[in-house]
Amino acid sequence: MQLTTNKQGLNGTIRVPGDKSISHRSIMFGALAEGTTTVTNFLMGEDCLSTIGVFRALGVTIDVTPEKIVVQGKGWDGLQKPAETLDVGNSGTTIRLMLGILAGRSFDATIEGDASIAKRPMGRVMRPLREMGATFEAKEANFAPVKVIGTKLDTMTYTLPVASAQVKSAIIFAALQADGETTIIEKEKTRDHTEQMIRQFGGKIEVDDLTIRVSGGQKFRGQEVVVPGDISSAAFFIVAGLIVPNSKIRLENVGINPTRTGIIDVVQAMGGKITVEKTSAVGDEPAGTITVETSDLKGIEIGGDIIPRLIDELPVIALLASQATGRTVIKDAEELKVKETNRIDAVVTELSKMGVALVGTEDGMIIEGQQNLHGATVKSYGDHRMGMMLQIAALLADSDVTLENAEAVKVSYPTFFEDVASLY
Ligand code: S3P
Repeated sequence: MQLTTNKQGLNGTIRVPGDKSISHRSIMFGALAEGTTTVTNFLMGEDCLSTIGVFRALGVTIDVTPEKIVVQGKGWDGLQKPAETLDVGNSGTTIRLMLGILAGRSFDATIEGDASIAKRPMGRVMRPLREMGATFEAKEANFAPVKVIGTKLDTMTYTLPVASAQVKSAIIFAALQADGETTIIEKEKTRDHTEQMIRQFGGKIEVDDLTIRVSGGQKFRGQEVVVPGDISSAAFFIVAGLIVPNSKIRLENVGINPTRTGIIDVVQAMGGKITVEKTSAVGDEPAGTITVETSDLKGIEIGGDIIPRLIDELPVIALLASQATGRTVIKDAEELKVKETNRIDAVVTELSKMGVALVGTEDGMIIEGQQNLHGATVKSYGDHRMGMMLQIAALLADSDVTLENAEAVKVSYPTFFEDVASLY
C-alpha cells in the first residue's frame, strides 16, 4: 500500500481504540467469573478477537456486537475440553496467559498460533508453571504448538528472570487455581492490568512494590468493564504530532495507568510539548486527554526500569529520536528481540531504508538525530507496530513510501490509516 506523506500539519482529535491488554483480560476474567460481564470500548482488533475465539472453543458463550461484548461466565469449572486445537492467531498475550489458565484445568488442550507465534519463546512461561506441577508437551520445550495436560497445581515462590507482564499474568492465573498462596517477585514493575482486574472482579491480590501474593480458590463475579483507549496506539499520534510541522493533536480517553506511561516521560525529557489531563478512572485504571504539538526535541538516553513502561512504544520512539537534535541511546531493551518480530533488527533495517542513521546494539539502538526521511519500499514483517511506525515515518518522507503487508495493523488498530487521514 502507498502511504500518506504530509509535512503541512496534522490537526484534530482522535479517540484511539480500546486497550489491547485490558480487552484480552476482560474476556478472560469474564469467562472465569460467575455471571454476566459486559465490556464496552473493547478492542475489535484481530488479537482480542482471537481471545474471544479461544474462549468460545472452551464452551463460553460470548456475544459480540459493535456496542459491547457480553460474556456469560460460569466460573473456572465452566470451561470445557475443546473439540479442536485452540488458535491464538498472532497474539502472544493470548497464548501465554492461556497457558496459565489451562495448566490447572481438568482436561487437556492444544494451543497454537501463526508463524510468528511459532517462533516466540514459550519456555519463559512453561518453566515457572512446571514448578507448580503443570505438564506441557512442546516443540524443543519452548515453542508452540503446546499441548497442556491439565492437572492440580501447587503454590510456589518465584522470582521472574525477565520483566514480562505476560509471564507474570500466566503465573497469576495458575496461582488462582493452586491450593494456598503463591508469591511472585518481579524484576522490574510491568503493566499491572491483571492485578487490577482481579480486584475489579471481586478477588484479592496483595502487591508490595515488586512482590505479589495471590491465593487460589477465589471466585470472581461478572462485571461491567469499560476499556480505556490504548496508550500504545495513541503513541503513534503522539509522535506524529511532535514531529510533523504545524501539528496539534488531541487524544481523548487514553489509558494512563502509570505502568504504561513511559512514553510521556520520554517526550517530556526530550523537551516535547505534551499535556496530560486525567478525565476518568475505573479503579486504578485512569484515562485522560493527551495533547501534543510540534516541538523541538533533544536526544536522550532511555534505559533501566522505564523500559517495561514503554516497551511496545520503542519502534515509534526510535522514529521520534531521529527527528531530535543529538543522539538517542536506547538500552536494556533486549526484550524487543522476542516481540511479534525482532524489533531491533526490523526498526534498524526499515528506517535505514528511509535514510535514518541508526544502529542496533545487543540491547537496543543508537539513533542519530535531525535525519531527513526519504521515499522507499518498506515492510511490516507482519508486525502491527512496525506497520504503524512506518506510516508515521512516511508522513515526513520527501517522496513515495510503499508499505508491504500493511494489513498487519489490524491486529491492534483496524482503523489506523483512516484515523491518520482524518487529521489533514
Ligand atoms: C502484554 C505484555 C507485553 C507487551 C504485549 C502485551 C500484556 O509483553 O509487549 O504487547 O498484555 O501483558 P511481555 O510480557 O512479553 O513484555
